Amino acid sequence: MTDKKDGRFIVHTAEPLNGGPPLDQLRASFLTPTERFFARNHAPIPEIDPATFRLAIDGAVKRPLLLSLADLQRDFPSHERVVTLQCAGNRRAEMLDEGQRGQSVPWGSEAIGNARWQGARLADVLAAAGPLPEAAHLSALGLDDCTAELKTSSAETDDEQEKGFGGSIPLAKALAPETLLAYGMNGAPLPALHGGPLRLLVPGYIGARSVKWLARLTLAATPSANHYQARSYRVFPPAVNARNVVWEEGESLGPLWVNSVICLPAPGQTAPAGPLRIAGYAQSRAPIVTVEVSADGGQSWRAAALTEATQGEPPSPWAWCFWETTLHLPPGEHELCVRAWDAEGNGQPADLAPTWNFKGYRIHHWQRRRLIVE
Ligand code: MTE
Repeated sequence: MTDKKDGRFIVHTAEPLNGGPPLDQLRASFLTPTERFFARNHAPIPEIDPATFRLAIDGAVKRPLLLSLADLQRDFPSHERVVTLQCAGNRRAEMLDEGQRGQSVPWGSEAIGNARWQGARLADVLAAAGPLPEAAHLSALGLDDCTAELKTSSAETDDEQEKGFGGSIPLAKALAPETLLAYGMNGAPLPALHGGPLRLLVPGYIGARSVKWLARLTLAATPSANHYQARSYRVFPPAVNARNVVWEEGESLGPLWVNSVICLPAPGQTAPAGPLRIAGYAQSRAPIVTVEVSADGGQSWRAAALTEATQGEPPSPWAWCFWETTLHLPPGEHELCVRAWDAEGNGQPADLAPTWNFKGYRIHHWQRRRLIVE
């Protein structure tokens, strides 16, 4: 699967593939080319024949459905959305010390990508099934086999546990016009690595809820009992660790938070004196309205320009925003920082400490970067 990716792709694990592009490449284009799009997989990629593939829709519905890909493409209007997917573990490396590396994917800031997705509106498909009044959550189940990971994790390995990766979203989000059953990515059929033939696409939510290789959608009164919803992708207070954790008590992650990242200059790069372009991305559950940059560790700030570089795409409330500014810094060592706010007034904490959690999710404090100007 690594052969499907660009030569500079940062491979954290090869089987299953977990990796993403270097930050200068990530910042190079508003739409992330598929060969540079990050991949997050908990298990090997399942082999699915698009010709025999069926999606089951069941649970609290008047008419259970079994749909082929052709049914979906023929019976429901096709929609396109420019949507940024971000993994809940993005920036995890900033909270790990050396001893902790290897416990989960040690993401830098590359667990994110922005693509043009094509698919049917989930709301249209659910309307055909007819949700019953008790339906409050939509559970999605993938065709991958996560048994190996479940054996080494917190999961109860009883027969009840689903093998596939799954998760759920509130029914209101399932019915929202932005939520898709996606079969296309960047103008081509959805590649197997990214969930082809069919994945859920939940804009503004953590990437984990965009379940790949969809097998089944179930409406119910309660959230999914799947391991990746009931125990994983949860945030715990700083005092909780692997020894005292009660998995079900964690805060289940859904809607994204504000995050902003410095992509240029690339990490570790030394800058020449003179005008210096600082650039990066920002994303949240709502459009980003302000990005500020500091060159003195957060003592003083200046507004960055939010660029219009959308490659001709109409503005999408579900896409990241690119920002940049030019600084004139004297020779010496500087501490760059970035912070952002979204249209709902959400911002970022200054420090990691209050948001530190042992699983390394929702890392979104001001990003700090040491820079040497020669
Ligand atoms: N769906 C299945 N079936 N299996 C998975 O391992 N990973 C999830 C989500 N959907 C996953 C999945 C996570 S954690 C993320 S961040 C996104 O897919 C990543 O999507 P991508 O690999 O297309 O970038």
